[in-house]
Formats: sequence, structure tokens, C-alpha cells
Amino acid sequence: MKQFLSVHDVQDIDALVAAALAYKADPLKDKALGNGRRIGLLFLNPSMRTRISTQVAAQNLGLESIVFNVDKEGWALEFGEGAVMNGNTVEHIKDAAPVFGEYFDVLCVRTFPALKSRDDDYSEFLLGQFIKYSGLPVVSLESATLHPLQSLADIITIKEQLAEKQIKGKKPKVVLTWAPHIKPLPQCVANSFAQWINAWDGADLVITHPEGYELDEKFTKGACIITNQDEALMDADFVYVKNWSAYNDYGKVLSNGEGWMLTNEKLSVTNNAKVMHCLPLRRNVELSDEVLDSSHSVITQEAGNRVWSAQAVLSEILKAQ
Ligand code: CP
Repeated sequence: MKQFLSVHDVQDIDALVAAALAYKADPLKDKALGNGRRIGLLFLNPSMRTRISTQVAAQNLGLESIVFNVDKEGWALEFGEGAVMNGNTVEHIKDAAPVFGEYFDVLCVRTFPALKSRDDDYSEFLLGQFIKYSGLPVVSLESATLHPLQSLADIITIKEQLAEKQIKGKKPKVVLTWAPHIKPLPQCVANSFAQWINAWDGADLVITHPEGYELDEKFTKGACIITNQDEALMDADFVYVKNWSAYNDYGKVLSNGEGWMLTNEKLSVTNNAKVMHCLPLRRNVELSDEVLDSSHSVITQEAGNRVWSAQAVLSEILKAQ
């Protein structure tokens, strides 16, 4: 694997999941793989799980990792081509990224969307600049439109749960449901989850959201899309809860989403569904306490699997170097 920006960088999802689960069973089995090599973890936005799980994964592989919180600790970066830098930005990405290339063997980057211009965000301009000028293999720690390490951890979790639930012979029904939130959030997690589940072919994907919250068809094509949440939840084996802002009326919050928070009553029509969320989440806005504190919730397992997701990906990249 030369880079990890989306599901398109993965040849065989099931094989990658198997590699991740092998690391979960024996975390230090490839401790020598990263000897003498170093990864940079660059954060232009906040993180808890991605930062820590990727560091743990790196350590398990014998890699040295250095975290750089660009947004809080670095010089203000300029990305504009031909910019006259007489304002607040101090260092151009053209000058900074090659320096990362001198220090690291692999570059991992988190860059959220600005949610102002859909064209800018969906061109993945910022991530593209790190790729272009660092000369390093780049791993996305969540970009403007996708969160592939999260989606891999999500599929790992679904596969583990399927083994526990002993669902065999038919594909599980996975429902991605929009949830209310007080702020406009990116579409990354939802886009990425849809993209991975569609590519995986190990589940039937249903997406439900209020009208106006349609996602980019590039990621959802192949899924069944229903705007009636109760209908969508019928017989679901997994319910993935996530808020996103509008894609068409870009970056907007269109309603307060009354009636869309997942409750035990809503779950009663499912096949005793397991409930997933990438975290962080706002309790009793996106998801009720009663669901989160019940046996339906697999969110801690899901977050734990972020380590094995990152370890499987980093391992593939190191082996290709
Ligand atoms: N799920 C996730 O990416 O969490 P963080 O934003 O805390 O890294």
C-alpha cells in the first residue's frame, strides 16, 4: 500500500480486516517492522481517538511517532498558490511539507473541511498539498470528505459482532442514520462509511436522513436511501448514528432534527441491533443515554478497534517501502 486516503487504496478489505484482527490477537508480533523508522502525525484539527490509537499502533510496530498539532503549535500555514504573504500566514506549505519529508518516513495528516466551499473541500485541496510537497506516503487521519481509518475500524467491529451474533448465510442489514446536532458537522464519516460498506459487499446498506441531507452519490451509490427513519430501521442488525451537515445546501444545518434521536423505542423494530458511533458524541442530542448505556452500544469496542485499523494500515505501508 503506497498511501491510505480512501477505500480505493485497499486491494482486499477482508484481508485488511483479518490483518487488523491478527494484530488485536497479538499486538507485538511485528514489533521489528518499524525499527529505525518514524511517522509524523500532523493535526490541523482536534482529535482524541485518532491521535492516541495511531500512536499506540505505531508503538506496537516499533515505529517512533511524533505528534505535531499544527493548528496550536505550528506557524500559520499558507496554502494559496502565488500568495503574497503579508498577512497572518507565516509559512507556505510548499516550504513546510518538504521539511516533513526530511524528518519522517510516513506522514499522517488530519485536515477538516472549512464547510464554506463545497468545491474546495471536495477537491481535498489541503491534503493534496501535503501529498504533493512532502514526497512521503500519506495516511489520512480524516480529511475534508473521508475518514478511512474510522471506516476500517467500523467494519472490523461489524465482523466481530457478526461472529458473536452468529449471523450466517445472509448479509446483515446496516442502517446509517442521520442524527441531530447543534453545529454543522462535516460529511466525512458518513461518506466514508457508505463508501466502505458499498465496496465491502459484506452488508446491505440503508441510509436514512431528513430531506435535504442527501450525501454525495459518489459515495452512496448502491445503498438504499429512505427518508422515513422508522421504516429504515426495520429489522436492522446494525445502526450507525452520525450527524452531518447538508451536502447540496453546502455546510448548512437545515432543521433541529426533532424526532431523529435514536431511542430504545425506535430500536424496538430492529433485529436487536448493535448501535455504532465514531465518537465524540453529544449525549441526549445525537443518541439517548438509554441506548448508549445499554447492551445495544458497541461504541467503546469500535473506538478500541481504531488501534488495529491503524496498525494494519501502517504495517501495509511499511512493508511497501
Ligand atoms: N472518531 C474520531 O476520529 O475521534 P477523534 O476525533 O477523537 O480522533
